[in-house]
Amino acid sequence: MAADASLSFNLLHRTCKLVVLLCFLHITVTLFFYVRSSDDRFAFAQNQQHNPRFFSSNNPPEPEKKAPEPEKKLEKCPETSPLLVGPLRVEFMKPSPVLEQVKKDNPRVASGGRFRPPDCVALQKVAIIIPFRNRDEHLKYWLYYLHPILQRQQLDYGIYVINQDGDATFNRAKLLNIGYTEALKDYDYECFVFSDCFSQPRHLSVSMDKFGFRLPYNQYFGGVSSMSKEQYLKINGFPNNYWGWGGEDDDIFNRLASKGMSISRPSGEVGKCRMIRHERDQKNDPNPQRFNRIAHTRETMHTDGINSLKYSVVKTERLDLFTRITVDVGPAPKKR
Ligand code: BGC
Repeated sequence: MAADASLSFNLLHRTCKLVVLLCFLHITVTLFFYVRSSDDRFAFAQNQQHNPRFFSSNNPPEPEKKAPEPEKKLEKCPETSPLLVGPLRVEFMKPSPVLEQVKKDNPRVASGGRFRPPDCVALQKVAIIIPFRNRDEHLKYWLYYLHPILQRQQLDYGIYVINQDGDATFNRAKLLNIGYTEALKDYDYECFVFSDCFSQPRHLSVSMDKFGFRLPYNQYFGGVSSMSKEQYLKINGFPNNYWGWGGEDDDIFNRLASKGMSISRPSGEVGKCRMIRHERDQKNDPNPQRFNRIAHTRETMHTDGINSLKYSVVKTERLDLFTRITVDVGPAPKKR
């Protein structure tokens, strides 16, 4: 009987131990799953804070922070722009274009008359230099027609109107020298005056209405021309001592010829120019000295040019469609 009691006590004892062990195991497993699920809940809550889908409208989400996009690498623009539209009809309608409207029509032109193509890297950095005095009406047509054309040519360009201050005799070539110098303070332009540069200096206005749409003579380099920085420096820039009308372009031609450069020209169709009719400007009378000066270009060009240029800037204005630099070119000598 005592043995029986001891046997059943032992059995009970073992059973109890087993139950305790099972309980312990159960608690351990429960604890394990509890801890794991609370980790998940924490991660979920954190996720919510970063996921805008989970925000109510009165708790606006912070803008999702994207990794910065790598800067779009632009290709070079093609040799011939696909945006060209062929011949244009140029008319000097009255009233003249309103600059506010021209600005609206050319929204990509930045302050100071700067532009670069948005979709490709331009092949040319061009400073367009306009020697100027009292021709505001003409300038309006220029800006109206030229800004769209230059943009279609996919150029990286800037427009510089070099305005001669005061009413002393006009000096076109000196203003061009000043334009060259001032433009280079803004940007590393490679090409000056007009839309593109060639291996040879380029004369662009080859077919002007005022000359019956033909060249007045073979060496003619007046009107509109373009040059690379290198070509310009090779001839020591332009002469500074041609005051009044005429001769400075012939001097430039002589400079180019003396350095063995020839002139390239576009076809008459491309280089067609219309001039706005105007009275001869005051203080721009024909320069009687010009024939004598032209005869001596080869001797004078090394000391008269960009290396001897003296002027002072009166005012620089970054306007919507161009940069206007008003300059004091100094007095014309008594005896021109
Ligand atoms: C003058 C030039 C001018 C050309 C055409 C020449 O006699 O010297 O400056 O561009 O005539 O008018």
